[in-house]
Amino acid sequence: MYYPEELVEEIRTKNDIVEVISGYVRLTRKGNGYWGLCPFHNEKSPSFHVQGDRQLFHCFGCGAGGNVFTFLMNYENYTFPEAVKVLAERAGVNLPEMESSEETRRMANRRARLLEVNKEAAKFFFYQLRSPHGEIGYQYLRKRELSDETIRKFGLGYAGKSGADLVRYLRSKGFEDELIKEAGVANFTERSGLTSQFWNRVMFPIQDINHRVIGFGGRVMGDGEPKYLNSPETPIFDKRRNLYGLNFARTARAGNVILCEGYMDVIAMHQAGFSQAVASLGTAFTEEQAMILKRYTENVLLAYDSDGPGVKAALRGIGILRGAGLTARVINMLPYKDPDEFMKNLGRDAFQERIDQAENSFFFEVRILERDYDLNDPAGKTSFHREIARKLCNFSEAVERENYLTAIADKYHIVYEDLRKLVRSVAAQTGLARPIERPKSGVQSRNTSQENVKRSQRLLVTWLLDEPGLYRKIAKYISPGDFTEELYQKVARRMFPELERGTFSPAAVISMFEDEEEQREVSSLFNTKLPQINTAAEREKAFRDIVLAVKRNSYEYYSSKLGSDVSALKQVIDGKKALEELAKAHISLD
Ligand code: CTP
Ligand code: MN
Repeated sequence: MYYPEELVEEIRTKNDIVEVISGYVRLTRKGNGYWGLCPFHNEKSPSFHVQGDRQLFHCFGCGAGGNVFTFLMNYENYTFPEAVKVLAERAGVNLPEMESSEETRRMANRRARLLEVNKEAAKFFFYQLRSPHGEIGYQYLRKRELSDETIRKFGLGYAGKSGADLVRYLRSKGFEDELIKEAGVANFTERSGLTSQFWNRVMFPIQDINHRVIGFGGRVMGDGEPKYLNSPETPIFDKRRNLYGLNFARTARAGNVILCEGYMDVIAMHQAGFSQAVASLGTAFTEEQAMILKRYTENVLLAYDSDGPGVKAALRGIGILRGAGLTARVINMLPYKDPDEFMKNLGRDAFQERIDQAENSFFFEVRILERDYDLNDPAGKTSFHREIARKLCNFSEAVERENYLTAIADKYHIVYEDLRKLVRSVAAQTGLARPIERPKSGVQSRNTSQENVKRSQRLLVTWLLDEPGLYRKIAKYISPGDFTEELYQKVARRMFPELERGTFSPAAVISMFEDEEEQREVSSLFNTKLPQINTAAEREKAFRDIVLAVKRNSYEYYSSKLGSDVSALKQVIDGKKALEELAKAHISLD
C-alpha cells in the first residue's frame, strides 16, 4: 500500500462520512442513517444510504458503495492515494513524503514532467490563437460557429506556421529535448532537429478526467491531409482509456452519455447544452472505454456519422457496449452527416427529439442488416429471416429473446410462429442458444451456480456484521479459506480475527483495497439483503442453510483441487468433518 495502514485509518476516522458526503448530496436523516438521491445514477426517489455508525455508504439502486475514500474516488474520480491526500488535508493530518521505490518515484516524476510539457504546450497554442498571426485559426473556429466561451472552455488553440516555435518555447521553459519528444509534441528530424509535427493547425487539447492535458489533436484549417493529427501514445496518453469531453461529461448527470465520433461533434454538443457528450480519440471505441462509461451511466446514445463508415463504427460500438452490459441506442442524424452539422442546422430542441426517439440497438442492427438482402426475392427474404433468427439466439435470457422476437416479427411482418420455429432450428443447428422452452443449461447454469456461491458467501459476511456475536458459534465450522472467492477470502482473513476480538470495522477493511471496483465489491459484502424472516425458527434455519452452503461449496471446491494442490487435502478432510457435524448441529441465534 502507498501509505501505512494506520495513517490511512487515522485519516478515515477523522473524516466523518456523513459530513463529507453532505458536501455533495442532500441527505435526510431517517431511521438508521441518512438517505439521499444517488449521485452515481439517475433516480427520483432516494435509495442512497449513508450509515454514520458504520461509516459506509451504499446505493440500493445501482450498487455503488464503500467508505469515505470510495465516495471521493467515485465522485471526484480520484485514485486511492489522491483521495487519501485530499481527506488528510481536510482533517489536518500531515502526510509524510512517501518512501517509494526509486523506480516508482522516477516514473511518477516523469509522468508529472510530461504533464507539465503538455500543459505548457496547451498554453502556447492557446496564446497563439489570440495573437495577431493566430487570427486565421480564430476565424476558422468562429466560422465553425464556436463561441468565445466554448473556445475557452475546451482550451482550443493554434499552432503557427513553423513547428520550431513550440520547441523553442518549451526549451525556454526549461524542458529538455528528450522530454519534449517523449511528451509527443515534437520529433527529431535529420534536417531541422527537434520540431513539432503540429503546425498550421487549430489545436484541440485532450484532457483526462481531472482536466489535465494529456495530448493533442490538430486539425487543418480547410481541406488537407491528414485532416487530424494526433499526439502519439505516451506514458500519460492512453488512447484506449480516455475519452474526449469526459472531464465535463462525467458531472453532467443527464442519465445518459452521448458517444460521438469526433472532437468537433463533442464541442458542438456541449455548446448546445448536451454536456454528456464524449468521443474516442481518433481511434475506434474500445472495451476499456466502455467500462469507464459504465461508471457513469447504463445508457449510451450513439451519435455517429450517418455515412457508411459511421454506421460500421456504430455497429462495432454496439457490440462493445453490449459486452460491457450497457444499453445502447442509436440517434438518427439524417439528413445531416454528424452531430455538429445537425446542431448547426436544426438546433438543440430538434436534437433532443432525436435523443428521445433514439433507436434500440437491436432494431438498428436488424434495419442495417435488411439492406443486404433483396426482400422481393423469396430466397433473399428467407436468408434475412434466418439471419434475424441467428441474432435473436444471441440473447441468452429467454424473456428478453422472447420480447425481441415478438417485436421483430411485428415490425417485419413475419408470422410470429414461423420466426419462432426458425429461431429454434437455428439454435439447434449452431448451438448458439437453447430453444426457448428448454431450461437453460451449460454456461448459463454454471454462471448462476457461481452467482449463488458468491451470494451465500456475501450473505454470511453481512449477517456476521449485523450480529457479530454469531461468529463464535460458527467459528469451529467456518474459516476464511471457505470463502472461495479470492476477494471475499481476503476480507474474511481480516474480518474473522477482528470479530473474535470485537474490533471489526467494515469501513477500515474497504481501505485495504485501492481499486474502485474492488472497494465496491467489498462494500457489497456488507450490504447484501438478508432474507426477511419473522419467526426465530425460520431465522435459525436460514442462517444454518447459509453456513452449510458456504461449507459445502468449499468442500466441493477443494475436492476438485485434490491432486493439483497439496493444501487442499487438509481442507477436504476438515470440510468433511465440519459438514458431518453441521448436519447434526443446532446453531442458536440468541
Ligand atoms: N480523425 C483522426 N484523423 C483523421 C480523421 C479523423 O484522428 N485523419 C479522428 C478525429 O478524432 C476526429 C474523428 O476521427 O475527431 C472523427 O472524424 P471526422 O468525422 O472526419 O471529423 P470531425 O470531428 O467531424 O471534424 P470536422 O467536423 O472538423 O470534419
Ligand atoms: Mn464533423
